Amino acid sequence: MAKGQPKRQNEARRNKTEDDITAEVLARFSATQDPRLRQIMLSLIGHLHAFVKEVQLTEAEWFQAIEILTEAGKMCSDKRQEFILFSDTLGVSMVVDLLDHRKPDGATESTVFGPFHRLGAPEMPAGGNIADRDHTGTPALVSGRVLDLDGNPVAGAVLDVWQAQTNGLYDSQDQALDGLHMRGKFRSDAEGRYLIRTVLPVNYPIPSDGPVGAMLKATGRHPWRPAHIHFVVSAEGYEPVTTHIFDRTDPYLQSDAVFAVKDSLICDFVRHEEADPEARRAGVEPPFYVAHFDFRLTPSAAAQATVMDAQQRLAALGAR
Ligand code: BEZ
Ligand code: FE
Repeated sequence: MAKGQPKRQNEARRNKTEDDITAEVLARFSATQDPRLRQIMLSLIGHLHAFVKEVQLTEAEWFQAIEILTEAGKMCSDKRQEFILFSDTLGVSMVVDLLDHRKPDGATESTVFGPFHRLGAPEMPAGGNIADRDHTGTPALVSGRVLDLDGNPVAGAVLDVWQAQTNGLYDSQDQALDGLHMRGKFRSDAEGRYLIRTVLPVNYPIPSDGPVGAMLKATGRHPWRPAHIHFVVSAEGYEPVTTHIFDRTDPYLQSDAVFAVKDSLICDFVRHEEADPEARRAGVEPPFYVAHFDFRLTPSAAAQATVMDAQQRLAALGAR
């Protein structure tokens, strides 16, 4: 060593490692003021970096991921939400739903909201037909009660209902259709009863002409959802529940593309070949299907939770 030269210059330098970068990024985010945001960002960085290191992500793969996300963004419109589809098909929506809407045993379980809710469904009287422009489906009457956890009726609950048409498309996907179809808002009566006229729900593939479809194909997954009807049921003083009822006979119950099936939501759609006075009153002739399902609502934890909360959530998630 030359006399007087600082020792440090001649020491073998250690190259920066990927763990150094992770530590630096974590340190930078650790100054975040908002404690919840800090927790989320630190955990996100930790898991994201660990994932990249675990799979030894190549630059080409990273760039492909950027392209996929870019494509997903470009596909989003007032009628298409590719990011919700990603969240649903990766199972994230269902995990978030379970964490954020834990229900006591006996309460109706929730499931994915999905991308096809639309605001402005028409208010309908009991027995109102949401499928008046669906001329190929088999009529179905869906009825039941809205109850509290003790089995008491909940009167005046709002049931916001939506369903795919028999051609497997929601109204917003169907080029041949103008306006809203297969949607309605029903109210439970004094005994908590509701009655909806519709058609037998069909299974259908989620939109698969974009990056989500490419992911499903590349990973050997199918895009099908089992036949179902969507509900958001809300009432003053109760937690709103976003859920579906599923047809027990559907072959995709065990492999729903969005992991949304829960046993308690599976329901019998019973076929009737004979005329029935009650069905006739609702304008339904044989053959037709009948399904019964009771919704059980949880009392609201927050004193302020109202029907409005459900509507705000819907507006935030699906203002389409
Ligand atoms: C639906 O049932 O409408 C749906 C849910 C998640 C993804 C795609 C569609
Ligand atoms: Fe659906």
